[in-house]
Parts: sequence; structure tokens; C-alpha cells
Amino acid sequence: MSSSEIGATTLFVCVTCRAQVPDAASSDQPRAGARLLSAIEAVPAEQRAGVTVVGVECLSNCNRACTVAVTAPGKWTYVLGALDPDLHAQDVLTFAQLHQRHEAGLPAWRERPEYIRKNTVARVPALATPN
Ligand code: FES
Repeated sequence: MSSSEIGATTLFVCVTCRAQVPDAASSDQPRAGARLLSAIEAVPAEQRAGVTVVGVECLSNCNRACTVAVTAPGKWTYVLGALDPDLHAQDVLTFAQLHQRHEAGLPAWRERPEYIRKNTVARVPALATPN
């Protein structure tokens, strides 16, 4: 099965995450999670191919914000945390594309961006398909 025959991966981005170290000078700026979503959406479309990006509110990982979840039907789900909107948009997309290309949603450890390897909060297996 080629990667184009495998369905899209969904990248949920928490838009309500706050920066881990609040910047007093930027209290009127959008939240860090919203800035991460904007940074991901600003990446050229070809680098987002096969990935559907969706903003959501609170993925319940607030203490390790910013947080995203990477999932697809029939595949493993990953929760990634401690993301900086100014630094990690490309790492998140690289991981999401690796997830999309793998039939079971299991990106090879060596191919994952180093920061993602160190900040994977959880992974959850796919639900079994009823017979
Ligand atoms: S506000 Fe982002 S995980 Fe809770």
C-alpha cells in the first residue's frame, strides 16, 4: 500500500495552551497554542500534504503545553507536549507526515525529530475493528 493510498492523518492542535514561561510583555498576544496552530498552518502546503490540521480546546496536557495529538482511523495515536510555537511547528509536521505514511501510524524511532522523541507524552493503540 502506498502512502497516497493511506488515509490522511489528523493533527489536533490545542489552541488554549498557555506558554510554560509567561511573557509579561505579551499578555495581549494570542495564547501559545493558537500561535503554534498559526505556525503550522504557515508551513508550505506540500510540507502539510496528507495531514489535516484541526484546532481544538484542551487536550488535558496543560502542564506540558503546548500540546498536539496525531491520529488516524486504524492507527496509533500520539500525544506530543512541551512544544514551543516559535520552534517546533516543522518537527510536529514531520512527525505527522511520518505517521501518515506508515500503515499502522508507527513512525520509525530514528526518523522522528529528536525533540519529538524526547517529548512524546503518550501513545495509544488503534481500536480493534469489529469482525
Ligand atoms: S490547555 Fe492545552 S492541553 Fe489543556
